[in-house]
Amino acid sequence: MRTASLALALALALQSAYSFSFPAVHSQRVCGVTGASSLPSFRCNAVGSSKTFLKSSKNWEFDHQASLTPKYWGDLARKNLDWFKDFSITTSGGFESGDVKWFEDGQLNACYNALDRHILAGKGDKVAIIYEADEAGDVTEMTYKQTLDRVSQIANMMKSEGVKKGDVVTVYMPMTPDVILTMLACARIGAVHSVVFAGFSEDAIADRIAAANSKFVFTTNVGLRGGKTIKLKQTVDNAIAKDRAKAIVEKVFLFKRTEEEVNFVEGRDIWADELLAKQSTTCEAEVMDAEDPLFILYTSGSTGSPKGILHTTGGYSLYAMHTTKTSFDLRDDDIYACVADAGWITGHTYICYGPLLNGATTTVFESTPLYPDEGRYWDMVERLKINVFYTAPTAIRSLMRFGDESPKKYDLSSLRVLGSVGEPINPAAWDWYHNVIGGGKATVVDTYWQTETGGHVACNLPGIHVAKAGSCRGGTYGIDMGILDAQTGEEQVGNDVDGVLVIKKPWPGMARTVLGDHERFMTTYLKPYPGNYFAGDGARRDEDGYIWVTGRTDDVINSSGHRIGSAEVESALVATDEVAQAAVVGFPHDIKGEGIACYVTLNNGVEMSDDMKKSLKMAVRSSIGPFATPDMIINAPALPMTRSGKIMRRILRKIAGGENEFGDTSTLADPSCVPVLVENARN
Ligand code: WT7
Repeated sequence: MRTASLALALALALQSAYSFSFPAVHSQRVCGVTGASSLPSFRCNAVGSSKTFLKSSKNWEFDHQASLTPKYWGDLARKNLDWFKDFSITTSGGFESGDVKWFEDGQLNACYNALDRHILAGKGDKVAIIYEADEAGDVTEMTYKQTLDRVSQIANMMKSEGVKKGDVVTVYMPMTPDVILTMLACARIGAVHSVVFAGFSEDAIADRIAAANSKFVFTTNVGLRGGKTIKLKQTVDNAIAKDRAKAIVEKVFLFKRTEEEVNFVEGRDIWADELLAKQSTTCEAEVMDAEDPLFILYTSGSTGSPKGILHTTGGYSLYAMHTTKTSFDLRDDDIYACVADAGWITGHTYICYGPLLNGATTTVFESTPLYPDEGRYWDMVERLKINVFYTAPTAIRSLMRFGDESPKKYDLSSLRVLGSVGEPINPAAWDWYHNVIGGGKATVVDTYWQTETGGHVACNLPGIHVAKAGSCRGGTYGIDMGILDAQTGEEQVGNDVDGVLVIKKPWPGMARTVLGDHERFMTTYLKPYPGNYFAGDGARRDEDGYIWVTGRTDDVINSSGHRIGSAEVESALVATDEVAQAAVVGFPHDIKGEGIACYVTLNNGVEMSDDMKKSLKMAVRSSIGPFATPDMIINAPALPMTRSGKIMRRILRKIAGGENEFGDTSTLADPSCVPVLVENARN
């Protein structure tokens, strides 16, 4: 007993304080360490040769067990965050009633921890943000001190215009540092940011403003992306012109990205650059309770309108910080680049909060992987000497198509860790990422997580685990992952099992609720398998105990790493005058992972034509955004229904994917519709 607790205490001391830092050596392949070299399916990631590595890899099971305790997080929270008031309760509540709390009587400020904390520690002149603007090589750096000055000015400007603690601020901005600074300024004064990805349509913005009762909006006159000008302010104006938003919005803060003139509404719109220049660079950070909301972020589910996922201050901050540090083996002098957009959770956690809470140097990338050509990422890696690079399989696949020539032109030797997110990374893309981009040396880390989890919940940790291409391995620190039988909910113990993926214990970074609809939070995540958090994904645990995510078990489509609700696309289609009924499914797509196929039943007298297909695609674009543009519109005079009136989506997925075998169709009310759909899908 005594020895066990001593050992545990030792493990905690080692783990909790980040007190072991990973050594810098990265040459020796140690696939054999875990006995994996005999398995051909293992992809060998380079890891260091120091004893620390070997020790930590051997100790993983033990360290992981230790991390499943409140004490682990309590120690980390005290060590790595500054608290205005210490907490006495590390965690309370649970999955049963969805009242999970972390550090509830503690007080802190996320922005203070992301900026002031490092400046007070003497890192004020360290570069916090590298801004790689749309034109390659157009680079601006901001130190921690400069970042804090501008964040404070934005915060003071907000206060001067009436933004108060608890107000929801909608942010619809391009990828310039100002989007990050605006988020931090909200955090500084206790306002709750709701970032809406700048690819969303005016309808989507209006919905989100209305749902969150958001009186304040931040935008820019235009955005620049891939050499194109995007009229963001115009889209915001159109959104606010809609009744559901018009009644709510009081102020629009408007930054200038270019000198382009835009419509300006006196009394409502504010030129942010002018007003904030007049503000003091000092702004006291608001004292927040650990469980006060930090932000909401809307995400799609299988049914209904997008859910406003709510994350809170203490737990999310700690979890963002810890996963950034451990999943990427982040070091103090690293140049770190996550090329996601701030409008998605990846941008929140792994461009803004995670890196800055660690006092790291983070990159804000404004452009696209194909501008001015397919070498853009690699050109940037060489110029900025990026050490940790984080992107999605869909981007890797789209760049692979161009061959090895382009990456080979650049010196990519600075790369040490290559992150992947959004979907399982297929072996071909893994190999290319590891060998061609990472020179066979950099570690590929497959990070599995969701908007709701706040940060990574599964990954192969650099220096600790050997990677298998396509597997996210298993639960990371603090994550007790399980696989349950989908029907019975019984836990599938041992290896070589499959079912639905769950997390068995609360963790600090988990979402606390769906804004304004706690019951929906319960029914979506906590009630399906009582006592567990249900991720909505299926998974298999292989013979070595590695977890393979097999995809969503609901009707959510994962296209180019974007989460798209089939119900949202369907409602955009049936909202047109032409469509009577629609069924939208995902199908395998070489680059996007999943493409979007829309089966539509047209109203009587309406004919399907190429123009009709175009106009229906446009209807979806304008209802949701260009990223949700359907790949296929298929004329469906009738849909395959069961006798109880349920659409058999399984068959629709197969038809769209070009398959010819549809399994058992005998339960269909009218199987004769199937060959018609097959024919129409080919045209
Ligand atoms: C869904 C979450 C938070 C990351 C960006 C997407 C899928 C995500 C992986 C991965 C397999 C993955 C899941 C998940 N997913 N990462 N490494 N391996 N599947 O966030 O929009 O909230 O989508 O993306 O299906 O449920 P999101």
